[in-house]
Amino acid sequence: MSEYDIAIIGGDGIGPEVTAQAVRVLDTASEIFGFSTRKTEYPFGTDHYLATDEIFPDAAFEEVKGMDAIFLGAIGDPRVPVGMIEFGVIAKLRFELDLYINLRPIKLYDASLCPLKDKGPEDIDMLIVRENTECAYTGMHGFAHKGQALEVATQTMVYTRAGVERAVRYAFELAQDRPRNQVTLIDKANAVRAQDIWTRVFAEVAAEYPETKTDHAYVDAACMWMVKNPEWFDVAVTPNLFGDIVTDLGAMLQGGMGIAASGNIHPGRVSLFEPIHGSAPKYRGKNVASPVAAVMAVSMMLDFLGEKKAAEVVEGSIRALLSSGELKGVGTGMHSTDAVGDMVVRELRTAAAKV
Ligand code: IPM
Ligand code: MG
Repeated sequence: MSEYDIAIIGGDGIGPEVTAQAVRVLDTASEIFGFSTRKTEYPFGTDHYLATDEIFPDAAFEEVKGMDAIFLGAIGDPRVPVGMIEFGVIAKLRFELDLYINLRPIKLYDASLCPLKDKGPEDIDMLIVRENTECAYTGMHGFAHKGQALEVATQTMVYTRAGVERAVRYAFELAQDRPRNQVTLIDKANAVRAQDIWTRVFAEVAAEYPETKTDHAYVDAACMWMVKNPEWFDVAVTPNLFGDIVTDLGAMLQGGMGIAASGNIHPGRVSLFEPIHGSAPKYRGKNVASPVAAVMAVSMMLDFLGEKKAAEVVEGSIRALLSSGELKGVGTGMHSTDAVGDMVVRELRTAAAKV
């Protein structure tokens, strides 16, 4: 029997509640599909920081490095300076584990969830490959003459050939298994001239995949096309900052932040799975947050671990609940967090009985 070591970090705000439901789904899947998990829960997040002054201690980080996967609920809390816990937890994991891909599927499960008129599941099924370790996120920034009239603030967008190439190649590899086999490059090379490296590396990698159709959109136009003609996108690859932005837009196309999940991946190494949504501190402890995105992150984690069947059935359970209308109003607090967990567990057992 396969056994997986999984770090569970509930985090801040609604993170722990949605994580609890995601873990129930993971446990149910492991029981049905015959694999086992060794879960280690870590308390890191703002409460822990306020109580102990530690964000992510080295000893715990060393432990996590040796695991198969990490599940993260959500991070961020207004009681501490902006970005402090985000950088100490999410960015630390992304950078120090070299999780160079942020994979964000945008898939519409039911037309009723989409704010666009006349668009259905056949129109919205894309995979956004967000480069995850470079661009404006390397932390290289500075201020001069702080607080004075002539203050200067800079932040460097960093791209390396190796970093761009591995993200682009990952996108092309993903496209090979998809019927449309298309990769779109989303950049802003007309204004951010350093992104010419993306244009060139994309063309070089594309030459190795002659069967794959390629397309290009500047990020401003990509936002427009994603709303107007989402069916034009299959796999898209983009620098970190644009990936952050277009995937929030994409999340809305599939029904909102209550549904969208992501994988921070280094193929073959410990990787991190999380819902895209934030910690929504004002809903903390109210049992109203939708755990659907967290459950979708479990599905992505299972897929990454090689438990393909389990991943599919978890995703299928969510699809069934969303399209039958049982899970209406996802993310609006219409169903309590644990009631949605109950529904998914029940649906999972029903679906598994049929396979
Ligand atoms: C995301 C988030 C993070 C990001 C924040 C919390 C730093 O918005 O995962 O999309 O910008 O990457
Ligand atoms: Mg974001």
